[in-house]
Amino acid sequence: MNKVTELPKAPGRSGPASSPAASYQSGFANEFATEALPGALPVGQNSPQRPPYGLYAEQISGTAFTAPRSHNRRSWLYRIRPAAVHMPFRLLPASRIIADFANVPPTPPNQLRWDPLPPPTKPTDFIDGLVTMAGNGSAESMSGCAIHLYAANQSMEGRYFYNADGELLVVPQMGRLHIATELGVLDIEPQEIAVIPRGVRFAVSLPDGEARGYICENFGALLRLPDLGVIGSNGLANPRDFLTPHATYEDIEGKFELLAKFNGRLWSADIGHSPLDVVAWHGNYAPYKYDLRRFNTIGSISYDHPDPSIFLVLQSPSDTPGVDSIDFVIFPPRWLAAENTFRPPWFHRNVASEFMGLIHGEYDAKAEGFVPGGASLHNCMAGHGPDGDTYEKASQADTSKPNKVGDTMAFMFETRTVIKPTQFALETSQLQNAYFECWQTIRKTFDPATP
Ligand SMILES: [Fe+2]
Repeated sequence: MNKVTELPKAPGRSGPASSPAASYQSGFANEFATEALPGALPVGQNSPQRPPYGLYAEQISGTAFTAPRSHNRRSWLYRIRPAAVHMPFRLLPASRIIADFANVPPTPPNQLRWDPLPPPTKPTDFIDGLVTMAGNGSAESMSGCAIHLYAANQSMEGRYFYNADGELLVVPQMGRLHIATELGVLDIEPQEIAVIPRGVRFAVSLPDGEARGYICENFGALLRLPDLGVIGSNGLANPRDFLTPHATYEDIEGKFELLAKFNGRLWSADIGHSPLDVVAWHGNYAPYKYDLRRFNTIGSISYDHPDPSIFLVLQSPSDTPGVDSIDFVIFPPRWLAAENTFRPPWFHRNVASEFMGLIHGEYDAKAEGFVPGGASLHNCMAGHGPDGDTYEKASQADTSKPNKVGDTMAFMFETRTVIKPTQFALETSQLQNAYFECWQTIRKTFDPATP
């Protein structure tokens, strides 16, 4: 069941509508329709001369107007004031957010791994707590992604944010997030994810007082569910498990800040009301959440570990059929039943590049050193795979009986192009300089006399 969170009242955001309980509609990118007041949603047309309740009609489109119907994503919002009503934006000083990876330091071909970010030492909200670890492409080219970590200890108070640069795939690792958006409220906890579309305004509160996690900011084509091919019509992430909020709104006035991330920089504008003032909306461009524990994991029941694409949750396709710009892949609890085989992920080098994180538990290819909240990066053609201890154990293990990889949830942001770490990522004390040593204990077992 989905958790409904009662929030402490945040100073600066008052009124009964400031922390509504989340309630959801089910399905992936459905044509949703929802209204917080009866009759607020116009019937039979999108832009009546005078919408009900004195609301303003406004469209937000996430794909080109002429995109094929199967990919076309837009929503119609009925709101107290149009999104245009705010004072001019002022440029804020450069932050630790990067949105153009052309000028980061040269990317080493080494395997890289990091410890978790330390908690912030001063009051830090979700936006202030963002730091970019790596990425590729640029926001300006609408291609590629940025991979951020966040570490926060304060709710966003009196300020709201939107990202014009891409959609945000939020993967909490520690602490729940209460995400109040224009289109409704999402409550997520570790092992759940949220996707906030490009442009949608929101504010994040921290029910647990602190929070830490990962974000993949997708500059390119919107995330979608993969085709299932021979798997059939069910399996992996099932569409009905994706949840989109019902409409809810804040009708409050005061001195607020509207933050925008636009072309890689943060901008700030004064706004005299809450921009979360959408009373009704319909369409298929909306935030959503998904519980990773509902993933229907599919694997080998005869021999050999399949390619990790079998664990694909969401994909951002590129212009080349079958080649994704971003794959979001998870490694959830599962039974290993393949016989006479090496059960953990094998040694490999890929054309794709892999940024991994660990939400919970232990990852089955690494006995130690890869801890929850940490991260690893194995770029294009970097050799990697199980560490020495894991190889020793798995190559001797009894495979006549199934065993369960139980208490775990790891994930991967896999991309088509090289994932370039930022200067921060290469210089932080969280970087594990001895990571390479986990493969140095692998001994030579070759003996030409023993087939
Ligand atoms: Fe890998």
